[in-house]
Amino acid sequence: MVKPTRIESVDPYDWTEILIASQSEGHNMVNRLLTDFREGTNRFDAPGELFFAHFHENVVVAVAGLNQEKDRSFGRAGRVRRLYVIPRSRGNGLARSLVEKITLSASAHFDALTVNVGKLDARGFYEHLGFTPVEHPGITHVKKLAHNNGVHSISESRAIASSRNK
Ligand SMILES: CC(C)(COP(=O)(O)OP(=O)(O)OC[C@H]1O[C@@H](n2cnc3c(N)ncnc32)[C@H](O)[C@@H]1OP(=O)(O)O)[C@@H](O)C(=O)NCCC(=O)NCCS
Repeated sequence: MVKPTRIESVDPYDWTEILIASQSEGHNMVNRLLTDFREGTNRFDAPGELFFAHFHENVVVAVAGLNQEKDRSFGRAGRVRRLYVIPRSRGNGLARSLVEKITLSASAHFDALTVNVGKLDARGFYEHLGFTPVEHPGITHVKKLAHNNGVHSISESRAIASSRNK
């Protein structure tokens, strides 16, 4: 499985295909990600925040970000945002790898992860990855993070320490 790459700016990469693909499916998340980044309203750079992508050469084929969750109903939570995989790259584990990487990174900073699937057909995906559906305004699914109980395996602890250093 190819590992996602942590990125800190949108500018060096080719977003044309993923932007067109997402908009042609009626999804606005890639456009929002690019617009918010370029306007400086969301650069995934607050404490604990980051975003990852998968590439074919310089072309972005999948993306997802981690923001701080403003709603404190689920404790100090991070929020998975802007997850999108271009249709030709689906079914290869790219979204799973993005969410797993975000989960690992988030466990060093947050007690839980939230997501708002909204009208998207991604409920099954998140539930397959261990998210629990909730009835809550603006949040459809929550996943408690492992560090809640303070117990990590040695390999998890190493991976978390390594993700803190990236
Ligand atoms: C949902 C989406 C991100 C999945 O991307 P993907 O790269 O094809 O997903 P993966 O290949 O990583 O799938 C991982 C696992 O989830 C499962 N899965 C994927 N989509 C699923 C769905 N809609 N329902 C149930 N399970 C699903 C896969 O079977 C796979 O299972 P496995 O790892 O046990 O074999 C992609 O279809 C997409 O971008 N959709 C449009 C945008 C969207 O809905 N984004 C979510 C924003 S909240």
